[in-house]
Amino acid sequence: MVTGGCGYIGSHTIIELVQSGRYEVVSVDNNVRSTPETMRRVERITGVKVPNYKVDICDKAAFFKVFEENPDIQGIIHFAAYKAVGESVEQPLMYYRNNLGALANVLEACLHFGIQALIFSSSCSVYGDVKNLPVSEKTPMGQAFCPYAHTKQIGEEMIRNMMVPNPSMNALILRYFNPVGAHISGMNGELSPDKPNNLVPIIMRVASGKQPSMQVFGTDYDTRDGSCIRDYLHVSDIADAHVKAMDYLLEHRNQEQCEVFNLGSGNGISVMEMLAAAEEVVGHKLNYTVGGRRAGDIPAIYGDSSRANTLLHWNCRYNVHDMMESAWKWEQYLDSEGSH
Ligand code: UD1
Repeated sequence: MVTGGCGYIGSHTIIELVQSGRYEVVSVDNNVRSTPETMRRVERITGVKVPNYKVDICDKAAFFKVFEENPDIQGIIHFAAYKAVGESVEQPLMYYRNNLGALANVLEACLHFGIQALIFSSSCSVYGDVKNLPVSEKTPMGQAFCPYAHTKQIGEEMIRNMMVPNPSMNALILRYFNPVGAHISGMNGELSPDKPNNLVPIIMRVASGKQPSMQVFGTDYDTRDGSCIRDYLHVSDIADAHVKAMDYLLEHRNQEQCEVFNLGSGNGISVMEMLAAAEEVVGHKLNYTVGGRRAGDIPAIYGDSSRANTLLHWNCRYNVHDMMESAWKWEQYLDSEGSH
């Protein structure tokens, strides 16, 4: 089962699961932050129709019914959650209720239906503002800079605590750095809100002329070119890591009941470098101005993902050029569909 299967990382993960030839997938997604159209895109790419149950995971009775109808579910990849940093500051309770209420029901379903393999979407935001880079899984969690990040910290703790009295349960916590780009076919990608907050969707809006200009939030950081550094990786690489993570659990290769993996490319890339990569792909200069620092931004973060490389046998297949090229293809695909 993939929860949040119509979402950005969820849908790309379903594509990789189906294309591995080893998994049959059911999705659960209430489509409050996604569209059922995504499943048609997944079908166009894979040739397989994946059923989506339009169910709110916080509604335990409705959620449990999905398991009753699919008694052969062996593992759950739990993506479904709210993830907008700014919104979580404005409406914290909504974030705690949705993200943690859903996780409580997922954990209860694991116990009730005897599902022993759980993969949880976490975030590098659990590390807070770290000074020692790259961050490894041993880096302690820092102060959460927003309620969204706090729900990920609490979610991880909930899972760890559930393991103690339930020795047959196994979980992997995957901490994502900055997933970007779109399926390499250009036929599936992120459906951003009208006013996206994240860098690559904004770059694509400027590149396609939907937005006249953008701002680089600060070039006065103590980094190689003054702009912030992040660990961007291709969404299909993150997706592929989930397939390998599920293999790892189902083949009982885990050493502990609950293990943590960073998922990043291991490379820090600056905002200015991202802009240059995008300009190369789209073939023209992008209009930007240098603005002030964005509240809550940290100067630099990138991860050490060698644990995932070694134990999950996972490596990134795509580079920054591929990230931008696929995002650009997807932008044009949406334009041709008239979906913007
Ligand atoms: C954000 C979230 C993080 C989440 C991730 C998902 C915050 C503080 N953090 O990460 O929790 O897991 O998205 O992908 O929101 N930038 C510009 N101009 C823009 C937009 C962004 O210069 O118009 C810069 C930002 O200052 C930042 C970088 O681009 O340095 C990346 O920003 P963004 O894509 O929003 O990701 P994060 O903030 O790293």
